[in-house]
Amino acid sequence: MARLGVNIDHIATLREARKTKEPLPLAGALICEKAGADSIVAHLREDRRHIKEKDLFLLRRKIRTRLNLEMSTARDVVSVACKVKPDRATLVPEKRKELTTEGGLDVVSNSARIKEVFRKLDKNGIEVSLFIDPDKRQIDRAAILGISFIELHTGRYANAQSSQEQKKFLVQIRQAAEYARQKGIRVSAGHGLDYRNIAAISKLKMLGEFNIGYSIICYALFVGLEQAVRKMKLLVR
Ligand code: PXP
Repeated sequence: MARLGVNIDHIATLREARKTKEPLPLAGALICEKAGADSIVAHLREDRRHIKEKDLFLLRRKIRTRLNLEMSTARDVVSVACKVKPDRATLVPEKRKELTTEGGLDVVSNSARIKEVFRKLDKNGIEVSLFIDPDKRQIDRAAILGISFIELHTGRYANAQSSQEQKKFLVQIRQAAEYARQKGIRVSAGHGLDYRNIAAISKLKMLGEFNIGYSIICYALFVGLEQAVRKMKLLVR
């Protein structure tokens, strides 16, 4: 059965809108866990625009499921990760001006730095995953680097403008996931997934986990976080 990772960045985004102490991402994470989340996902951005170091240390101490830290390969972020020791670090590309992570990591062009960061995190006992587009070249390079986990970027599937286009991107995701599994790489997926588009993609058995944030937090505004997570968990399963 597929697992659900809930990204709680947007709880911190709301806090930062007022630069106060609430809502506390940890409080949200505990509700997500109560509602069946299998892991808590948080992105420490280079500009610290939402999640801060102190959130990560609190999450690390208090959550009972797994902590999946999304991060770039920037030196200071890597150094924080080695102190926090999340269960998993998902390496993502990062641009300062983007609203959210646009596209996957280019492992082919950045393999030297990714290899260095992978080694460092691995030495610290942190599982490393790469957030990549459903592209065989990227999967091949991840396999060469000895990576055991990838997360496929589902943004194009989620933003498809027609059901035909959506099907085409779903096939790409399925083929990429099958290809990675043949290479012994475990595969999760995320970005832009919501209560509607999760239905078709959650049928792909080779996807072991879905990481979802924005749509859950939006729905939670109206029904509460616990119900929003419970509903997504049912759909993912
Ligand atoms: N997975 C990764 C690697 C991401 O960068 C994000 C966005 O932070 C997500 C999943 C969740 O995306 P969304 O908030 O669109 O559900």
